[in-house]
Amino acid sequence: MMNWGVVTVLLLIVAGSAMATEPAVNERQASYREAGASNFDAARGEGMWNQQQMQQEMRQSVSCASCHSANLRTVGKHIRTGKLIDPMAPSMNAERLTDAAKIEKWFRRNCKWTWGRECTAQEKGDFLQFIQSR
Ligand code: HEC
Repeated sequence: MMNWGVVTVLLLIVAGSAMATEPAVNERQASYREAGASNFDAARGEGMWNQQQMQQEMRQSVSCASCHSANLRTVGKHIRTGKLIDPMAPSMNAERLTDAAKIEKWFRRNCKWTWGRECTAQEKGDFLQFIQSR
């Protein structure tokens, strides 16, 4: 016999966790604030996500969306290797934004590759605000 009380509680937990801010995001954004950043903005993050910039190795304009797609809920495709990349949206991929070390590692690599420089604390905080809202 089904216990609907338990089912309801489980559904609420699942729904709630998809919306909740990840501890790793809180921790990262707190450290960005310590570095002088503030007021993290999802719309600004989305604008930067789609911002095209000339990429030296590719000799063409690229953006974060070139590999991750502009729609974070869809599968991305690595522009150089063609490898598929799991959706970035935490609502589609529960492992996203759960590991601070992974977040920093890929920010470092991807900002350098895409923009030719590391991202600032403000930019990283805005990116996380955008990604976690999807
Ligand atoms: C050349 C392809 C490529 C581009 C361009 C790119 N990324 Fe990535 N990104 C990857 C790959 C590959 C991974 C690691 C595989 C995975 O996590 O699915 C990754 C992982 C990440 C992660 C880790 C997320 C997590 O918690 O799992 C973040 C954050 C990220 N990228 C942000 C960015 C941002 C911001 C930009 C633009 C400045 C960008 N990426 C541009 C290929 C790319």
